[in-house]
Amino acid sequence: MSTLQVRVWRGSETGAFQEYEVPRLESQTVLDVVTHIQRRLDPTLAYRYACRVGMCGSCAMTVNGRARWTCRTHVSSVAVGGRLEIAPLSNLPVIRDLVTDMTAFFDKWAKARGRFEGASTRKDEFARVAPGSAERRQADAGIECIGCGVCYASCDVVAWNPGYLGPAALNRAWTLVNDARDTGNRARLAAVAGDAGCHACHTHMSCSERCPKQISPTAAIAGLKRAAMAAALKGEI
Ligand code: SF4
Ligand code: SF4
Ligand code: FES
Repeated sequence: MSTLQVRVWRGSETGAFQEYEVPRLESQTVLDVVTHIQRRLDPTLAYRYACRVGMCGSCAMTVNGRARWTCRTHVSSVAVGGRLEIAPLSNLPVIRDLVTDMTAFFDKWAKARGRFEGASTRKDEFARVAPGSAERRQADAGIECIGCGVCYASCDVVAWNPGYLGPAALNRAWTLVNDARDTGNRARLAAVAGDAGCHACHTHMSCSERCPKQISPTAAIAGLKRAAMAAALKGEI
């Protein structure tokens, strides 16, 4: 039976890679490899996953230097010479081994006012938003984000400027800016127009290249830059 040589990060912010030998199997995912290590070789290994089908976003890790969903990444597409290196996501504190603390990531969604703010009550008619309208198409482009953090871990600006809101929070804000039912845009645009907001993006595109959902936070951030500029010119923010 062929084997994989797998280096896995052990520890927290300080630690070291530990090497394991894992049987190579057909149709094996990187998450299968991590699970084999935890179940058969070292039960103290900490990692996180839930759905195994690309829906929950909790299994993201750094695999051979690049952030990915491990449950949807086949070993055959990433192993180089039968070797894998698996580390926690970048740009987030490491709790233990492959588990990062996502608190800052989700706090930034709140700072970008990434929650729906409506004015309707249950007595009002349902809002009807035309499926083909430009705003609806803009919102649809980003709505499938599952908050996995792959884009955030891939963004150099987050690494340089830990206060930067980051691609996922800004993509969420742009989705809501285009939601015809939302009433919180003035405050939202003010929130994302600051030094740590959309204007800090250097358009490196790593977020868009690596998002497993093919979302383009770069395009969303460009939209926010235009909307924030227009609101500033009108004196609204
Ligand atoms: S935009 Fe893509 S990569 Fe970023 S959190 Fe959402 S699903 Fe994950
Ligand atoms: S396009 Fe902007 S948000 Fe995306 S990775 Fe580059 S700098 Fe970060
Ligand atoms: S385990 Fe849910 S996305 Fe990978």
